[in-house]
Order: sequence, then C-alpha cells, then structure tokens
Amino acid sequence: MSDLLAKTFFNDLRLKKAKQLLLDALQEHSSKIVCVKPSSSRLKTSYKKLLDQFAKKRGAPLWYPYLSTGLGNGALIELADGSIKYDFISGIGVHWSHSKPSLISASIDGALQDVIMQGNLQQNVRSLELSQLLTKISGMDHVVVSTSGAMAAENALKIALQKNHPKQRILAFSNCFIGRTITLANITDKAANRVGLPSVIDVDYIPFYDHNKPETSLKHSLCVLKKYLERYPNQHSVMCMELIQGEGGYYKAPKEFFISLMEELKKHNIIIMIDEIQTFGRSGSYFAYQEFGLQDYVDIVTIGKLSQVCATLFKKEINPKPGLISQTFTSSSAAIETSIKIINELKDDSYLGKNGKIHEYHHIFKTLLEGLAIEYPHLVEGPYGYGGMIAFTPFKGDKDKVLIFLKELFINGVIGFIAGRNPVRARFLLPLGGITKEDIYKGFEIIKKTLINTSK
Ligand SMILES: Cc1ncc(COP(=O)(O)O)c(C=O)c1O
Repeated sequence: MSDLLAKTFFNDLRLKKAKQLLLDALQEHSSKIVCVKPSSSRLKTSYKKLLDQFAKKRGAPLWYPYLSTGLGNGALIELADGSIKYDFISGIGVHWSHSKPSLISASIDGALQDVIMQGNLQQNVRSLELSQLLTKISGMDHVVVSTSGAMAAENALKIALQKNHPKQRILAFSNCFIGRTITLANITDKAANRVGLPSVIDVDYIPFYDHNKPETSLKHSLCVLKKYLERYPNQHSVMCMELIQGEGGYYKAPKEFFISLMEELKKHNIIIMIDEIQTFGRSGSYFAYQEFGLQDYVDIVTIGKLSQVCATLFKKEINPKPGLISQTFTSSSAAIETSIKIINELKDDSYLGKNGKIHEYHHIFKTLLEGLAIEYPHLVEGPYGYGGMIAFTPFKGDKDKVLIFLKELFINGVIGFIAGRNPVRARFLLPLGGITKEDIYKGFEIIKKTLINTSK
C-alpha cells in the first residue's frame, strides 16, 4: 500500500468509474451537437431577458448576445437561445475545443484536488509538474504562474525594471496591445483604453513592420529605435513585443526585421520581453519566437489564453529579488490540469511543426479566403495572420461595415471578432483542438454568404 493517502484516493477505482460515467454522458449528449442551428423562437423572449439582466448587472451590454449553455462539441457551441454556432474566435483565443472529453477529464482531475485555487502559500505537486513542462518547452529557466495575461505582463515588466534599475523607459511597437492595468494601458497603443487614467510610465513606440514598404520598413524602424536610444541615453529598461500583432490587426514581420532590432537592443542591454499571450500554441510551434528562430534573443516571455494558466517565463540572469513577485492566486487546480493536457496534446496529436495540423488548418482557411478575395476584390482584402490566427479585411476596413458584417455573421452561425484600426479587420482564432477540415469549409460558406448579403 502507498504511504501517501492521496495516491490511494486518486487511484480509487470508484473515481475511475465515476469519471468514465461522466465522460460517457458528456459524449452522448455533446455528440448531438452536429451543425449550425438558428435560435429557437420559443426561447427568444427568455433569452432577451437574460441578456438584459446581464447588461444591467454589468453596466453595459455584452459585445455579442452570447450566453452559452455549457455544452458544445469541438468547434460548435450551444447558446441559451437554442442556437448552435461555429466558434471561430474561442473567447479571443482561450479555448482549445468545446466539451472535449480529454479536457473535461483533466478538469475533473483538478476538481478532485483539495483546493480550488492554488497560490503563494498553497501550491501542490501538479503546479510543479506544470512549471517543469513550461520551462522545458520554452527553454527559459524560471516560471511564475498568474491569473491573467495582464498580471503576467505586469510581473514581466517588474522583473525587467528591477533588473535594469534605474532605467525606467519602455519600448514597444506601435499598435501593440499588452493589457489593461493602469501601466499596461499606458503601453497599449490605443488612446481609448487610457481615457481618464494617469500617465505612469514613459513609452517610446517603434513602428512595426510595414508590408506595404518591405524595402524601407526595417531601416525606418531601426532608425526610430536608434533615435530614441540617442535621445534618452541609458534610460530604456525593456522592449515588449508581440511577434504577430493580435489586437493591432494580425500583422507579422520577417525574422530579419526582429533580429536587427533585437541586436540593437542587446547592444544597449535592453531586456527583450515577448508577449505570447495570443500567439502561444497557435504559431505552429509552442512559441512564435521558436517558430521564427529568435530564441537566442529572448529574456522574458508571457503566455495566457490557450495555455489556460497565465505565466511569466524568464532567464535566470534576471531572476528578481525576493518580495517583488507573489500572488494569493496563481491558478485554479482545474486550469493547471487542462494546461498540462493542452501542452501535451499540441505535441502528441501532431499540431506542431511544418506539417502539423495548425499549419494545415491555416492553409485550408487561407486558401478559401484567398479565393474569396479574388472573386470579390471590392469586398475582401487579405487574408492575413499566421497559424491559428487568421484575418481578412472586409469592406476596405470600414469599421461600421465590418461591425455590421460580424454581427450578421454571428446570427448566421459563425463567431469572429474585430482586430486593428484603420483598416478594421475580421479575425478568427480557431478552436484548434476540436475543429475539423469540414468545419472550416462549412464555416467559410457561412462567412461567404454573409459577406455577399451584407454588401447588398
Ligand atoms: C497580446 C496580448 N497581451 C496581453 C493580453 C492581456 O491578457 P488578459 O486579457 O488575460 O489580461 C492580451 C489579451 O487579449 C493579448 O492579446
């Protein structure tokens, strides 16, 4: 007999049987969700009432009339109005797949553990397992888990600022999004997100790669960087960057663009922080910096969304002094278990690599959208993005028209979202762990029909 009571508990046959029963029931019911379905007229009034109550409690309506029932099947979800929709946005990149038995099984394992939330004084052995996994796949030395992408970014900035004290300026790319705390809203390049907030940090913006000017773009960005370094000598602590801009509009850049800037940053001992909160697990590698061969330059990385837990990963050279980083909550036990599961599935179920499913799905969706752009050049430009992040520009990026299109698309059964400003794009973050090629074809047909109808 094991000397650990928990080991006997988790191996108890009754748990195995109960779990199997739950998963059998889940599969039986979730497998009935097979295709897009309109809302039920019978549920219309009660659904509207729920949405109104939600808006009242929140102080503002939800962006989409989306209240899920808690049951889905892969890329499909059931809403409380009786409709079934393709979820092509995954809660802005959070979900791997709806009602996926392997994930529900992992979260049951988490739910059986003694505490709901782990944290500063209450870590259990599975947190260690996750930390080991994250450092192994990232090549970083240390990891601190936290409850939101914003908290992971705050921790990253604190680590960088402490290491490079008294340097206090931050570098970031134009159009970046890094989060919504007061500091992060100062860095996020969107004026509307910081209305009424104090200015707490000095940020210098470097233009991101411009696809319309491939010849001069790198030179220009490098020149702007050098000017800032000259204007504020020895004052920059860290440059934070997304390698594929998410909220900014799904822009990517060639490897050489990043390498030139990173070389310059290294010359000045400026810490390089990569924000992988939207890109983690979506680029074809675990991390976009691995996909683009930039691992030698990276000092700190933040992850969130698809990883279920949020975390700051960093090199030992910048390990902060005691007292700087700590949290009552790091993550829920269920999120820790599902995080481990998703990280393993990414590798074991052939999602990663040049011939992996992420690039395969990207290729299918991209080819369909390219065909659409050729057929309707006045309606569609693009596609843009990389891996599991895909966007196109409908209606020349006119915000009002793109919003009408996306809301209509939602009613017709596909959920996407906006990205970027001027042009505003329609973007998709596919639920990679559950989507099939068939889903992409079917979802695309709905996108095409909606686009044509909205243009009339
Ligand atoms: C690139 C990037 N960084 C940071 C964040 C902030 O993450 P969270 O909303 O979990 O605080 C987001 C969220 O959309 C993001 O896309």
